[in-house]
Formats: sequence, structure tokens, C-alpha cells
Amino acid sequence: MNRPYVICHMTTSLDGKVTGRFLNTPVCEKAADYYYRLHRDFKADGFACGRITMEGSFTGGWYPDLNEYIPAFSPMDFLVDDLGGFYAVAFDPRGVLGWKSNTITDEDPGYDGARIIEVLTHRVDRRYLHYLQTLEIPYIFAGDTEIDVEEALFKLKAYFGIQKLLLEGGSILNGAFQRERVIDELSLVVAPMAAEAEDKPLFMDGQLEAYSLEDVQYQSGSLWLNYKKR
Ligand SMILES: NC(=O)c1ccc[n+]([C@@H]2O[C@H](COP(=O)([O-])OP(=O)(O)OC[C@H]3O[C@@H](n4cnc5c(N)ncnc54)[C@H](OP(=O)(O)O)[C@@H]3O)[C@@H](O)[C@H]2O)c1
Repeated sequence: MNRPYVICHMTTSLDGKVTGRFLNTPVCEKAADYYYRLHRDFKADGFACGRITMEGSFTGGWYPDLNEYIPAFSPMDFLVDDLGGFYAVAFDPRGVLGWKSNTITDEDPGYDGARIIEVLTHRVDRRYLHYLQTLEIPYIFAGDTEIDVEEALFKLKAYFGIQKLLLEGGSILNGAFQRERVIDELSLVVAPMAAEAEDKPLFMDGQLEAYSLEDVQYQSGSLWLNYKKR
């Protein structure tokens, strides 16, 4: 396979939603613990999230002042020396995420220290490239205006050696992967809660696709469902 093996690992509500207030309730706390334990147990080479999830979980909505940077000479992939370890792959088509260093800082040891990779399109402001370069954050281009998921995955394996990648939301990014049929496995922690009408589904704009159930386990009131692509 010329791309990483992709496991979509998510916490869902009973009605298959992945965003919203249900995630921050005490009932969902145990499901979240279960989710983070499974994240670590997968021993993947990295995890991938969409721009909105990265902002909510890691950058807190801070943006760099691009006036402090000069436009990078040419929009080409940028790699740094000394790559390796666990990666945080940000699908950030416009190049807006405000990182303060080239690794993730998080309370959870499953995320803390992950090396950031930015996946961009050619819509990016070239000053943002210079900003990433000063932080030594590697970036790859995949697509002109919209991220080409297959190209991104190909480069993640070829450049960074990522063999196993956890796709960890949100709904929009999961949907983009599902439409390309590149999700090999699903790992769903189902919390014992119903979500609200406006909350988003596991796959935004998803399509018909069959999976086969491989394993079911439970812990502290939450179910873990593991499916493989048929
Ligand atoms: N239940 C769970 O386990 C779990 C896990 C993670 C996140 N979440 C929740 O998910 C929510 C965020 O999910 P979300 O669905 O709103 O957003 P998302 O999937 O996190 O991010 C979507 C954004 O990613 C960018 N993007 C990257 N590749 C794309 C592609 N191929 N097609 C379209 N957009 C692409 C776009 O950024 P631009 O807008 O900049 O173009 C898009 O708006 C948060 O509330 C978070 O709490 C839940």
C-alpha cells in the first residue's frame, strides 16, 4: 500500500454524532478516558485532524501575525532534519493554524510531544510558509484549492514513514477521507448519551460503504466497536 493504514478513531453519541455538548458532559468523561487509552494502545505513527479540531484542541484559536513574515520564495514541500517519532498531522487547507512550537503540548501522554506536520493547499499565504519554516514545522502540499486526501496520504508515508495513522476527526475531515474510501478500520467508543440535532455525524457528506464488525468490548458504560473495511 502506498499510503498509511488509516484507522478512524472517534467517540460517538448513541445516535452517531461526534461533535457537540455531549462530549463535555460528566457521562462522557469515562468514554473519553477509554478513547484516550485506546489511542495510546493503537501505537500508531501519528494522528490526523481537521483545522477546526486542531484549533479547538491544541492551538486555541491563536493566529500568527503574518506581517512579521516574508513570503516564502516558492510553494514547495518543506521537510526538516531529524524527523521521526509520533506525528500530529493538521489538515489545514488555507494555512491558518497558529502553532507556537513544532510539537504538541498536551496533558495526555498520547498527544504530548507529537511532531506537527501541516497539510496545505496552494491557497496558502506564502508568508504562512515562512512562519512555519521559522518554527521548523514541516509542511506538504496536497491539492490546489481543496486537500487531495490521497496525495496527502501518499506523501505522509513517503516522506515521514507513517505506516499507521489515526484519523481523529472531526466530522468534515472524516467525511473527506470516507468519500475517498481510504478508511481501513473504524474504532468507535460509543458514549451512553444522545446528542443534539445540530451536532455533526461521524462522516459529514458520507457515502454508502460496508464494514465488517471485528470486535466489541465495553468499559465503564461505554461500548467499543471495531470494524474493518469490507
Ligand atoms: N467525537 C470525537 O471523537 C471527536 C474527535 C475530534 C473532534 N471532535 C469534534 O469535532 C468538531 C470539529 O469537527 P468539524 O467537522 O467541525 O471540523 P474538522 O473536520 O475538525 O475540520 C474541518 C476543517 O478542516 C479543513 N479541511 C481539511 N481537509 C479538508 C477536506 N479534505 N475537505 C474539507 N475541509 C478540509 C477545513 O478547514 P478550513 O475551514 O480552514 O478550510 C475544514 O473546515 C469539534 O467540535 C470537536 O470537538 C470530536
